[in-house]
Amino acid sequence: MLELRNISAGYDTGLVLRDVSIVVPDKSVVALLGPNGAGKTTLLRVASGLLRPALGQIVIDGVDATGMRPYELAQRGVCHVPEGRGIFPALTVSDNIRLQAPPASTKSSIHRVTSVFPRLGERSSQMAGTMSGGEQQMLALGHAYVCNPSVVLLDEVSMGLAPKIVDEIFSYLHDLASQGTALLLVEQYVSRALALADFVYILNRGEVSFAGEPGEISEETVLNSYLGSLAS
Ligand SMILES: Nc1ncnc2c1ncn2[C@@H]1O[C@H](COP(=O)(O)OP(=O)(O)OP(=O)(O)O)[C@@H](O)[C@H]1O
Ligand SMILES: [Mg+2]
Repeated sequence: MLELRNISAGYDTGLVLRDVSIVVPDKSVVALLGPNGAGKTTLLRVASGLLRPALGQIVIDGVDATGMRPYELAQRGVCHVPEGRGIFPALTVSDNIRLQAPPASTKSSIHRVTSVFPRLGERSSQMAGTMSGGEQQMLALGHAYVCNPSVVLLDEVSMGLAPKIVDEIFSYLHDLASQGTALLLVEQYVSRALALADFVYILNRGEVSFAGEPGEISEETVLNSYLGSLAS
């Protein structure tokens, strides 16, 4: 179980997150929604160790992991699929998978990713940056299949993709969740995220403005909270 307790974090320019607490129980899907600039990406960076919080704790399975480096958190099962894909466009598909995989598991990792995403197998020697947007996103998601995660942090993996491809990506996320991997899902497609999630947090200006089950809110409520943040 991943817990972020009372996190305050930000950059040189000032605090972005204020006293944010979220819990991602094992095998659950938690959606993290909120308007642009709310701090969603910042919170995922804190969870994967890319950004140290100014205050608060990261707790994994009851053990304090605050201050751990990204590779240490990855060893404890936290896998981050970052905003903007985080792949190396000038490297081939198979070299990208090699870099995503833990050392000494290259061959089995390539096998695993290409059996989930056969299209990547057909394109293993193609430069990643020359693939379609959907194929590049599959490569980014491949990370979740090779790092043996207990929780995957997904930052807008549907960004910029055609609706049909978004459906395909969501069916992979559904499969990943049904295999028992917990997901913390940052997503602009509110209704798709609510359909997949067991629990929802809405972040507004760096603070949690709603925490509850998807049945407790409608897509309209979520969108109104976005509009409210623009109006105020
Ligand atoms: N490296 C940085 N240095 C300074 N400020 C930053 C940095 N990264 C993000 N910010 C600021 O922190 C705030 C939150 O940004 P963040 O990227 O976490 O939002 P977000 O909720 O992911 O937004 P979006 O939906 O647009 O991706 C914004 O005001 C942003 O300008
Ligand atoms: Mg973001």
